[in-house]
Amino acid sequence: MSRLLLVSNRLPVTVKADKDGVTVVRSMGGLATGLSRPHERSGGVWVGWPGDVSRLTDAQRAQVESQLANLRCVPLYLSASEVNRYYEGYSNRVLWPLCHYMLDRIPRQDRDWEVYRKVNERFADLVAQQYRPGDTIWVHDYQLMLVPGMLRQRLPEARIGYFHHIPFPSSEIFSTLPRRQELLKGLLGADLIGFHTVSYVRHFSGALLRHLGPDTDIDRIIWEGRQVRVGAFPMGIDATAFETLANDPGVLEEVATIRGKAEGQRILLGIDRLDYTKGIPRRLLAVQRVLEREPAWRGRLRFVQVAVPSRTQVEAYAAYRETVDELVGRINGLYGGVHNVPVHYLYRSFNERQLVALYRAADVMLVTPVRDGMNLVAKEFCAARPDEDGVLVLSEFAGAAAEMSSALIVNAFDVEAMADAIEEALEMSEDERRKRMRALRVQVKEQDVHWWTSSFLTRLEGLPAVAEQKTAG
Ligand code: F6P
Repeated sequence: MSRLLLVSNRLPVTVKADKDGVTVVRSMGGLATGLSRPHERSGGVWVGWPGDVSRLTDAQRAQVESQLANLRCVPLYLSASEVNRYYEGYSNRVLWPLCHYMLDRIPRQDRDWEVYRKVNERFADLVAQQYRPGDTIWVHDYQLMLVPGMLRQRLPEARIGYFHHIPFPSSEIFSTLPRRQELLKGLLGADLIGFHTVSYVRHFSGALLRHLGPDTDIDRIIWEGRQVRVGAFPMGIDATAFETLANDPGVLEEVATIRGKAEGQRILLGIDRLDYTKGIPRRLLAVQRVLEREPAWRGRLRFVQVAVPSRTQVEAYAAYRETVDELVGRINGLYGGVHNVPVHYLYRSFNERQLVALYRAADVMLVTPVRDGMNLVAKEFCAARPDEDGVLVLSEFAGAAAEMSSALIVNAFDVEAMADAIEEALEMSEDERRKRMRALRVQVKEQDVHWWTSSFLTRLEGLPAVAEQKTAG
C-alpha cells in the first residue's frame, strides 16, 4: 500500500480548550472513523483545519502541535476572516445551498470566491510540501473543489483522488453558478472523482458536457491528455462499532430508562445537524398531521428530535432554528398535556453512546431530508438494531435511499404522505418490521465504511499512473 495523504477541511481531531487546559479530541463522524484505519496503516499524513486556536497561548499551541504530530495530522490554521469567507462564506453560503438545490439561499453577490480560491491554494501548497513520490493523495469534499487541479499543476505525476460528500446537483442547477467552469476544472485535476450515487455521477457528467465539452463517457473523461475516472462509491458507517455499542449493558440500561419514561407511548425519533436541508419543519408538520387526523394517537406518541447545533454563524441556520423552535412550540401547545408533550426537542450534541441508546429505544426513525448527499444516520439506526426491530422512514431525496429500498421511502416535500408513512410504520406487523430491518442490516453491514474506503482506494490505485498513460498514448 502506498503512503496516503488525506486532505479534508476539518482534521479528524479538533482542538478543545477549556479552563483545565487544551486537548486534542478525536472527532466522531464517518470520515474520521472510516479513514482512520488506512491513515494508520499507510504511515501517511492528514492535512486539515484543527478548529479555532486563536485563543491559545504559545505554550498551548506547542502542546497541540506535538499532539497533532503524534497523530500524523498536519494543521492548516485558518484566520478569523478565512473562516468567515472561505468556510462560512463560499463553502456554506454558496456551494452548500447550490448542491442542495436551494438557489434562493445563495447571496445575490458573490464576495467570497477569492478567499475560497486562496485557501484552496494554501491547502494545495501544504499538501505538495508533504508529498513524496509514490504517495496517493485523497482530497475530500466541496470546501476543496479546486485543490485537485492545483495539485495537478504542482505535482503533474501524482495519483490524486477526490470524493464529493454532498449531492452533485443537476446541470440545470449547477449552471447557475458564476464559477462553474473553474470548479469543474478544479475537480478534473483528480484521476478518480467519487460520488455517493449514480445520479450524482450523471449530473456531474452532464455539467462537464455542457460547460467544458470534453470527451465524456459517463465514467471516463479525457482532460488535458489524461484520463479522469468518475464513479459511485456509496459511503457506509462503522457498522460493527454501532452494533457493539447497541449491545453494551450500559447502553441497554439507558434504552430501558428511555422506554420506561415513555410508558404506553410509541417513540418516533429524528437525529440531525440543525441544517435547512434536513427537512425538520415538514417532518414536524407530518407528526402534527398524524395527531390532527387520528385523535387516538394523542398522548400516545413521543417524537424525540435531536438537533445538533451547526454552522451557527451562518444567518440561514439561525433563521431555520427559529422556524423549528416555533413549530415545536405550536405543536406542543396544541397537543401537549400537563403530564407530557408530543415533541421532545433537544438542541445540543450527544455522544455516540447516547445516540445509540436513542436509536435502540425508537419505534420509528424519521430520516426525511429535503436533500442529502447520503445520510449516515439512516445507516447508524439500522446498525444499532441487532434486535431486528424498528422501522426506518426514509426520504427519497437522501442518497441512502438508492441502497436502502427496504425502508419506507417517502417524498419529504409531501407532508400528507409522510403522515401516512408514520402511521403505516406505527401499525406495521412485527413480521414485516423484522423482514425489512434484516434486509437493511445486511446492506449496512456489507457495505460499511471500510468497504467504502477500500473500494475507492483500490480503484484509484489500480488506475494507470499519468506517466504510464503518456507512454501508452
Ligand atoms: O456532509 C458534509 C459535511 O461536510 C460532513 O463531512 C460534515 O460532517 C458535515 O457536513 C458538517 O460539516 P461542518 O464541517 O461544516 O461542521
